[in-house]
Amino acid sequence: MTKNVASKNEEAGKKWVKEDPDKEDVYWPSEELKKKAWISDPKIYKKAKEDPKKFWAEKAKEALDWFEEGDEIYEEDPPYFNWFIGSKTNLAYNCLDRHLEDRRNQAAIIWEPEPTDESNRILTYQELYREVNKFANALKDLGVEKGDAVTFWMPMIPETAIAALACQRIGAWHSIVFTAFSPDAVKDRMDDAGSELLITADGFYRGGKTATLKEKIDPILEELGTDNCVVVNRAGTEPEMKEGRDHYFDELIEDKESYCEPEKLDAEDTGFLLYTSGTTGKPKGIKHSVGAYAAQAALTTKWVFDLHENDVYFSTADMGWITGHSYSLYGPLLNGGTTLWYEGSPYYPNPDRWWDIIEKYGANIFYTAPTAIRALRQKGSDWIEDHDLSSLRLLGSVGEPIDPDTWKWFFNKVGEGRCPIVDTYWQTETGGILLTSLPGIGPFVPGVAGPALPGITYDVLDATGEPVDVNESGKVVQKPPFGIGLLRGVYKAHEKYKAEYWSEYGDKIYFSGDGGRKTEHEVGGNRLIEITGRIDDVLEVSGHRLGSAEIEDAISDLDEIVEVAVVPKPHDVKGEVPAVFALLKSDVEVSEEIEEKIVNIVREKVGPVATPGAIYFVPDVPRTESGKVIRRFLKGLVKDGELGDMTTASNPECLKELAEITEYNGPEEFEF
Ligand code: WT7
Repeated sequence: MTKNVASKNEEAGKKWVKEDPDKEDVYWPSEELKKKAWISDPKIYKKAKEDPKKFWAEKAKEALDWFEEGDEIYEEDPPYFNWFIGSKTNLAYNCLDRHLEDRRNQAAIIWEPEPTDESNRILTYQELYREVNKFANALKDLGVEKGDAVTFWMPMIPETAIAALACQRIGAWHSIVFTAFSPDAVKDRMDDAGSELLITADGFYRGGKTATLKEKIDPILEELGTDNCVVVNRAGTEPEMKEGRDHYFDELIEDKESYCEPEKLDAEDTGFLLYTSGTTGKPKGIKHSVGAYAAQAALTTKWVFDLHENDVYFSTADMGWITGHSYSLYGPLLNGGTTLWYEGSPYYPNPDRWWDIIEKYGANIFYTAPTAIRALRQKGSDWIEDHDLSSLRLLGSVGEPIDPDTWKWFFNKVGEGRCPIVDTYWQTETGGILLTSLPGIGPFVPGVAGPALPGITYDVLDATGEPVDVNESGKVVQKPPFGIGLLRGVYKAHEKYKAEYWSEYGDKIYFSGDGGRKTEHEVGGNRLIEITGRIDDVLEVSGHRLGSAEIEDAISDLDEIVEVAVVPKPHDVKGEVPAVFALLKSDVEVSEEIEEKIVNIVREKVGPVATPGAIYFVPDVPRTESGKVIRRFLKGLVKDGELGDMTTASNPECLKELAEITEYNGPEEFEF
């Protein structure tokens, strides 16, 4: 029988041990918490280290059902590597079929729509299974085959989960594009992946409004000559439907068979593509494997979120991001869990919607991003106080460093001082969480992501490739054998793959693009690492990744612009926003109109998520002798930080003027 809320709360209240009230905050789980956790013995780190390949082979076997098992665990051909060679499995089969016997009546997905007068949808494992099978057959009828890329421009509605699982079932690759990216951004990704099918919705609800999708994407479908478009009727906006090309989701599955044989896929077949921003040019199609990705999603969800029978797990991550893939959908379902999805804005109708949802469904685990926590904190703790959040047992954070202040608010106000916070560091490329403290082991240090998971080797290196000392900073890298879920390449772009990840320290060390600090804390022989942020030309806006290059490319299209540089500028809520340094043609006056043009073209080419937070019209930008813009100075200026050696610029005198324009208030003196 379930205990009543009060007694659960009392029990939970004892679950915390703070090391020393006078020292830096370091928290350890109590005995009760350890007792419940799947992993509570730090020996696992040592055991994994002894033979990481064997460790992963054993764990992968435990995590998934495999149709066939190959002989080889790991092979390397730098900068490529493979896991579980010759083994066969299917992600959708593992999410659904194998749970039918034990939990077919259990909720797989609880979906909460944004409008408060609309009822929720709860899909049991049986219902989800049926829908996925039908839609898989529909995909086949539309000519989709194993290895075909299917692009999604979909909101957080159950059909997104159904369609993703259906792709997995037949071995097609979903390529999901976030709805806050523009139709142009969808076009680039469809084009690169060669998608002949787009799955979208007529619209969805966000912030009390209806956002439309289908009507916005129509010109792109025309331009690309796309064969088919599946449309979910979510908001009843009745978009134009082109005969023969556009199909309503419901009509399409109506007469389909309710069983579709799951494709027996090779562990190293590609499971899906997900486009993400890099340091150069257009976004890259990150390739993930079928088997190892699935095993990693299953295992990390179990270990890090400590998912148990009957838990309600609430991740606020959208399916447009890797977090949505691994931890809103696949991870929880692979474990036979219940995942809670919410369609809309956390502020609708009031800024307590998430607290309301946690209370309504008795959510036990809550995973979100620092930017959202900061924003909700700004709305005031009063919004929380009326809600009973005693069901929560564990909190998670992802996407950017969480500052200790925000950590403490999250810990005390949302977790009521009772729930551990797993600060999970990972990337689109890693497919799953790699650095974090485990709930049954700890320690939890505000602002510090944590140690590498068992079986994973992370380090912080200096410029020469040597590991830095404790308390020193450097570049964050991963060493072999590589995380089972790490990317298997960039779609159709070998050189990009090599340049982006395997050039900093050669092809046997994966460079993340992040800077980090080795802390004095250690667990099971693994150092806790503090991630200090990107050190390449990638921005993290509200935890969403954008490349300086793609925003610059968009702005360069304007006739008025001679040159443009985009760097991240710190922002209270969003973490970072794009700051634009623009050089106008000599006959163009600075005006509100040109400012608006810049904003509009970024929104059009990249999407609203990339909207510039500051635009500076400047007479020049600092350059090297060869004319390359030195972003380091611009970054330093907008964050009031250090600029470093100014003599490396061929035109250092421009810095003084830039300092005035950006209202620089940092430590540098200018003497020119
Ligand atoms: C970048 C990856 C991981 C899914 C969401 C973002 C930053 C991510 C943390 C964290 C500090 C973090 C890094 C990383 N990041 N998690 N816990 N602490 N920084 O995926 O869009 O691929 O971005 O997000 O800079 O490289 P992504």
